[in-house]
Amino acid sequence: MIQPRTNPADNKIPRLLAVANQKGGVGKTTTAVNLATALCAVGQKVLLVDLDSQGNASTGLGVRRAEIQKSTYDVLFGEADVLDVAVKTKVPRLSLAPSSLHLAGAEIELVTAEEREYCLRKALRKPLPYDYVIIDCPPSLSLLTLNAFVAVDSIVVPLQCEFYALEGLSHLVKTIERVQRSFNPGLDIHGVVLTMYDPRNRLSGAVASDVRKYFGDKVYKTVIPRNVRLSEAPSYGLPAIVYDMKCPGAQAYIHLASEIIRRERDLRKEKIIKEEQVA
Ligand SMILES: Nc1ncnc2c1ncn2[C@@H]1O[C@H](COP(=O)(O)OP(=O)(O)OP(=O)(O)O)[C@@H](O)[C@H]1O
Ligand SMILES: [Mg+2]
Repeated sequence: MIQPRTNPADNKIPRLLAVANQKGGVGKTTTAVNLATALCAVGQKVLLVDLDSQGNASTGLGVRRAEIQKSTYDVLFGEADVLDVAVKTKVPRLSLAPSSLHLAGAEIELVTAEEREYCLRKALRKPLPYDYVIIDCPPSLSLLTLNAFVAVDSIVVPLQCEFYALEGLSHLVKTIERVQRSFNPGLDIHGVVLTMYDPRNRLSGAVASDVRKYFGDKVYKTVIPRNVRLSEAPSYGLPAIVYDMKCPGAQAYIHLASEIIRRERDLRKEKIIKEEQVA
């Protein structure tokens, strides 16, 4: 179903967050879908942008590939407005810009695109009828992910509690710093979320403490446990928070969302204070 247009005068530039880590299977999509749902549950209007050609966020929200007419591919290349691509989901206030297989070729097409790093920014950083835009990134630091970093205010980094968790992290941090220097000075890491934590596994605890040493306060207090309900939910086309709100995984994502909302509030306060000092 296509989104009904709202009065453009009511629109404002939403807060834009990317969920990213070039490592595969660390919980990016699970985090993006459940965080978006939890934000909607507290009254926020959210657009989830599926920027991965695998389309896991789209299928995880019950949007089937066959039903998709236009996708984030069209948004990226300026061939469709994001509002014409967004579809409603079963979650009240949550819309989805679905992905398509065309995105797999977008990397190569972007290389020759005009202002290739800014394509997504041009499409998303504008007044829209949403409070939040959350981008689910693919598992790479390619031009697609770079486009997300140039477009957003902040990045949420899921880290799986396993031996290789920290491997490649310096590459991610360096990429973020490069984007800050060259394209998007306001970009920062919103926070790092530890995923698939298993308290019975000593390694999980050791990795968690190493990550806290490396990232300090940036690591959210909430840790997402390994929970089979989180992995079952997408096969029903539902976020875990809707599929089984009481399961430990869903509860952890609800706590994470509260923590993120608190951090958001603090950031807004800091910004107002800075603006008042300048004025
Ligand atoms: N906390 C968890 N407990 C148990 N299973 C989980 C948890 N988080 C994610 N999973 C499962 O692990 C797999 C990978 O998760 P997910 O798809 O969210 O990772 P991803 O980083 O988006 O992967 P990709 O890099 O392929 O996009 C999925 O099958 C998902 O259902
Ligand atoms: Mg994914």
